[in-house]
Amino acid sequence: MSVEAETEEIAGEKTGAESEVVPVGVKLGSTRTVIALPSEDGEGLRTIRTLTCLASYEDALTGEEKYLYGEEAAREYPDRVEFMLRSGLPEDDDRAELTQQFFTAVLESHDIPEESAVVYAIPTIDNPVGLDNLAEVIEGSPIGTELIESYPESLCGSIPAFGDGLEAVEDIFIAVNMGSTNLEASAYRRGEQISPFTTGSITGSEVDRVIKSYVEEETQGRVNIDITTAREYKENHADFDGFEPFTDIIQQPGGGSHEFTIERSVMDACNEYLDDAVDAFANTFLSQLANDNMKVYQLALDNPIVLTGGMACIPGIVEEFERRVSETMDRDVSAITADRPDLAATVGAQRIAVRLAETL
Ligand SMILES: Nc1ncnc2c1ncn2[C@@H]1O[C@H](COP(=O)(O)OP(=O)(O)OP(=O)(O)O)[C@@H](O)[C@H]1O
Ligand SMILES: [Mg+2]
Repeated sequence: MSVEAETEEIAGEKTGAESEVVPVGVKLGSTRTVIALPSEDGEGLRTIRTLTCLASYEDALTGEEKYLYGEEAAREYPDRVEFMLRSGLPEDDDRAELTQQFFTAVLESHDIPEESAVVYAIPTIDNPVGLDNLAEVIEGSPIGTELIESYPESLCGSIPAFGDGLEAVEDIFIAVNMGSTNLEASAYRRGEQISPFTTGSITGSEVDRVIKSYVEEETQGRVNIDITTAREYKENHADFDGFEPFTDIIQQPGGGSHEFTIERSVMDACNEYLDDAVDAFANTFLSQLANDNMKVYQLALDNPIVLTGGMACIPGIVEEFERRVSETMDRDVSAITADRPDLAATVGAQRIAVRLAETL
């Protein structure tokens, strides 16, 4: 069984290739799973990224139930593909089992060594049952015979934004994780998470749904795209710096094709998302933090706010977040992000694994 995935090499990382136990970083995300480990030549970091999904089908000859995983499952069985972590965590025993099965297939097909020190980037969601299920998947997996630890996703994702090492774990700052199923904000004091705030209503997936409905409106009902297409429009075209209208073509049921141009739908949805995120951040999270811990609030706001998660990939979102938060709060704040926000949590987790492997 091979599980299709996108692999990349990140040069210039201190990956701990020399240590006996292989340091591995993992994020099991609701949309994508990302794994990072030292590359074979020891020169950089190898990252493996695949959709967190599977599809079952019946073997045409034997009648046996078989499974496909990742991009292959999403491409060939769009009608039945299951994203096991739809809400961010495995909701029940069945989903936990399917997640385990998916994860094992990915690990095997990409030769992730069992003798390893593994750090998992874990979402901050107030759902004890889901978190227990995730812990079960992690503990039941074949890797991490030497060490298994987990740290919050937004802390891990902030690590590459701060520098080449683990500077983030020695600092006081605020991180905002912009994911597909959750928006999360937390303060960190030397790695300790303070006043975490999570909402499931301001999300990348909601942006996709809004784009879908705005496209229908913008084309006077002529164009009805699916959610995957909406996500692709967002990932390929959203841009707070310089959005360019784009055209696409649909095949019509009665034959022929229809060409249309999207001018507003994508950025209207993204602008509403960012307004909601800024509002929740400035008015709910920050006042909660100021209430819980005034000193941390003050110290953290002297540092840049770190944006993490896949939605932070949208060009210009960091500067626009900065501008809107500064305006709302009537004071200057600054924001930063890692080079690759979509990979950052896993890269950060891998750096922690390097450090922990040294102590074994
Ligand atoms: N290049 C990109 N441009 C715009 N959006 C992107 C890009 N890459 C990923 N995204 C969006 O980011 C979201 C996924 O982010 P992330 O991988 O951080 O989520 P997750 O960890 O799986 O979900 P969550 O933590 O919310 O459960 C999706 O909505 C995806 O469409
Ligand atoms: Mg996440």
